[in-house]
Amino acid sequence: MNILLTGGTGYIGSHTAIELIKAGYKIHIVDNLSNSNIDMLDRIEKISGTRPEFTNLDLTNQKDVKHFFERYNDFEGVIHFAALKSVGESVKMPLKYYKNNVVGLYNLLTAIKNHKINNLVFSSSATVYGTPEILPVTEESPIGYTPSPYGATKQMCERIIEDFTSSLATFEAISLRYFNPIGAHDSGLIGELPTGTPNNLMPFITQTASGIREKLSVFGSDYNTSDGTAIRDYIHVSDVAIAHVHAIRFIISNNENIHHKVNIGTGIGSSVLEIIRSFEKTTGIKINYHLTDRRAGDVEAVYADVSYAKELLGWKSIYNIDQMTKSAWIWEKALRNL
Ligand code: NAD
Ligand code: UFG
Repeated sequence: MNILLTGGTGYIGSHTAIELIKAGYKIHIVDNLSNSNIDMLDRIEKISGTRPEFTNLDLTNQKDVKHFFERYNDFEGVIHFAALKSVGESVKMPLKYYKNNVVGLYNLLTAIKNHKINNLVFSSSATVYGTPEILPVTEESPIGYTPSPYGATKQMCERIIEDFTSSLATFEAISLRYFNPIGAHDSGLIGELPTGTPNNLMPFITQTASGIREKLSVFGSDYNTSDGTAIRDYIHVSDVAIAHVHAIRFIISNNENIHHKVNIGTGIGSSVLEIIRSFEKTTGIKINYHLTDRRAGDVEAVYADVSYAKELLGWKSIYNIDQMTKSAWIWEKALRNL
């Protein structure tokens, strides 16, 4: 069964490629390599024993997308990872984000319609919930105000998929709302490749440990949480990847005209200090950190109710926090030749 992965050489896409190959799927990756490297194909091949088909394609180029689908038209389903994802950059360059993420989806759905592909899995985010009023967050929790253009693109894309699904009786979609994916593949051969100064906690911790950053700022120590620092639902990237195997298997076998939305988290909230302590415990390295002001736009606590993922997809996470922080360090060491 042939599955198209857009953005498949990226962080989550590459881990998913491996799990799909392991599960027996044939895959074709399209990516414009704006935030990934072509050598990812070698790494996927090394881990899985199979080299995925690859086409360098920018989804915002409608003509190229059309030609691609005219040439390759045997996909059972599409997993759409390709997007820009930096919250901070999206505030500075909103049009870049709206064009890339929304126009990219528009072109993809146009081709999906023309080529009668019935199954789509979309990379959404917990960011669609904004500041949740009740924890844990269920899929019924209201879509909230999200301050960043990045977050707005995820809400818009979900809405477009909703309307598209309603308009096409044969079509089914799943938006997977990831919480905070961290960590790296057990092989140590693939992981996150942040460009510039990382915004996210885990790469900042590993870069502080490897000496690239002098000090980690812990944003906010006066939250109403057990240790005063903010709480998130961190999930191992391989667990996220496996969720896609369940999602694509489910959607291909289930012929219903529905747009499902599913939380992909562990259901466990961890504070920033708990993540630092886990990293220090599993690696034996002390992190140089200081407590600073809250970061603008940050939510105090977010974690998922994951019962629907279990019920609908038969999936739940396996990795614990210590395994996540340990794998992130193994990847950082490999990346820096430490
Ligand atoms: P990533 O940047 O590592 O991967 C995205 C890939 O898409 C990259 O390889 C990039 O080159 C490609 N791409 C971007 N725009 C493209 C375009 N116009 N045409 C073709 N390829 C394009 O990001 P990731 O962390 O793997 O995220 C994958 C998806 O998951 C994204 O949609 C992201 O918004 C979403 N998501 C990520 C997180 C997270 O914390 N990593 C959390 C929630 C949701
Ligand atoms: N944090 C620090 N210091 C840092 C970086 C982060 O203390 O240097 C803290 C943040 O303040 C927050 C927690 O660590 O409390 C997690 O922050 P991240 O930036 O790693 O993750 P966010 O929860 O802010 O955002 C992530 C993704 C977004 C996505 C959002 C909701 O980066 O793309 O989850 O799903 F939209």
